[in-house]
Amino acid sequence: MKTASPITSPSPSAFPAVWLRDNCPCPECRDPRNDQKLFGVTDLDPRIEVVEIDGTTVTFSDGHVVRFDPAWLAAHALDGTVPDDRAEDAKRLWAVLPPPEGSWSRCLSDPSHLLECLDTVLHTGFVLLRGVPAEPGRVLEVAAVLGYVRETNYGRLFDVRVEATPVNLAFTGLPIGPHTDNPYRDPVPTVQLLHCLSNAVAGGESGFVDGFHAAALLRAEDPAAFELLARTPVTFRYGDANTELTATRPMIGLDPLGRIREVRFNNRSLRPVRLPYERTEAFYAAYRAFAEILARPGLQVNVRLGPGDCVVFDNTRILHARTGFAETGERHLQGCYADLDGLAGNLAVLRRRQAVVEHLRELFEGPGAADYLGEEVTQAAHMLQTAACAVRDGAAPGLVAAALLHDVGHFTGEITGHDLMGGTDNRHSHVGADWLGRWFGPEVTEPVRLHVAAKRYLCAVESSYYDLLSEASRYTLGVQGGPMGAEEVAGFEAEPYARDAVRLRRWDDEAKEPGRVVAGFDEYAALLHRLVR
Ligand code: OGA
Ligand code: ZN
Ligand code: ZN
Repeated sequence: MKTASPITSPSPSAFPAVWLRDNCPCPECRDPRNDQKLFGVTDLDPRIEVVEIDGTTVTFSDGHVVRFDPAWLAAHALDGTVPDDRAEDAKRLWAVLPPPEGSWSRCLSDPSHLLECLDTVLHTGFVLLRGVPAEPGRVLEVAAVLGYVRETNYGRLFDVRVEATPVNLAFTGLPIGPHTDNPYRDPVPTVQLLHCLSNAVAGGESGFVDGFHAAALLRAEDPAAFELLARTPVTFRYGDANTELTATRPMIGLDPLGRIREVRFNNRSLRPVRLPYERTEAFYAAYRAFAEILARPGLQVNVRLGPGDCVVFDNTRILHARTGFAETGERHLQGCYADLDGLAGNLAVLRRRQAVVEHLRELFEGPGAADYLGEEVTQAAHMLQTAACAVRDGAAPGLVAAALLHDVGHFTGEITGHDLMGGTDNRHSHVGADWLGRWFGPEVTEPVRLHVAAKRYLCAVESSYYDLLSEASRYTLGVQGGPMGAEEVAGFEAEPYARDAVRLRRWDDEAKEPGRVVAGFDEYAALLHRLVR
């Protein structure tokens, strides 16, 4: 196993006793099934002390003894950082940029592309997905992959097209200046999607502005105006026959540390501000100053949406606009709302899975590529050939992954493949299966676990099988216990994954050909990613 670069971990003495005791990771303090804390702050002894520190093992005055993971301590050092993906310092602010694009079909087939697109929404603020079929309702499928649809009074989705009696100026051909949607809701929908079904009109182009960047410019150019907008709650309203919505929030929302965290800007729905006379004038000057920055041509990205384009944006940050268009032509968008917490959560899960895939890739490129265990192919080449056989024979994804990973136990265990060749059974099928069990289900782990047993099984039930084995494989058969006896054969056949293990075994035996050209690890990345739990 490749060892990571050493972590310089702070000593537990760098943390107050009350903090350490509150963050005790032991199963009495946190439920191991869900990592949730089993006590409240008032259950802690207010006079708790650390009585002994040995490495990262801490003994408390209440008798509790626990070892902290050094990497965990390092990751939680008391350096005052308050990471918040929603606040301005986590963002890539921009003036203009080529619209970041993604492909909807790739999002569906390749988790790493979906990951990039979600990351772009979270950090750049928007992504233009191409190739979302220009059919009604498809926007909901996009929202479902990003997170969860936020249903509103407009429905699960809404149509943006010219209407005879528009309840909203969006449903006319009028131009609409940069705005955020639904500022009259609290919480506001934090993600918006607009999917173009048709746009065969003169005009009707879309524009996007980074509201965080504009607010940061206002702060730099006119700090008093910035302060005023950040400290003055204003009311936004929407009403129709069945709806009456209001929310009272500042146009520039700050977090408790003063970082920009939310922009609400919509001249259509702003209610009269009600400040004392002089402050009212100052407010208007500040409001205008912000609007003028937002309208600077150098700060707006313009795109013409065509059928199949779906723009996804952070509605707490990115303002969107459109130019006017002739009401006679055909222009039809469908939109819906979703939320950043669902999107950020999906992104985090994708990252976690990606990290597993990267870890496996390192095994293939590192120890796997170096190791020959009495064969003429490296372990990595052998496993890739095994996986290629599984693909050729139409195996299910879990079994393809099992084929690809079946010998990882040679590098992940304490006893290596070299020990096996030296006559000590390294039980690599069990070691590998248990190691893989941290991330994969039985459809992957069990054929791996049984692949050595399958060799012993086939030697017992198929007289010609032994002759197929390579020299090294015959040697290890002896170390691993030789052919099965009758009782073991029956036991093996009763295993639910026995058939898969036998298929894997035959591919395994076939996959030792020097120089055979097969798909590389990358070809399996998406498949592995989808199997990680
Ligand atoms: C909207 C909107 C933009 C457009 O419906 O919220 O701003 O391009 N529409 O029609
Ligand atoms: Zn809008
Ligand atoms: Zn093998």
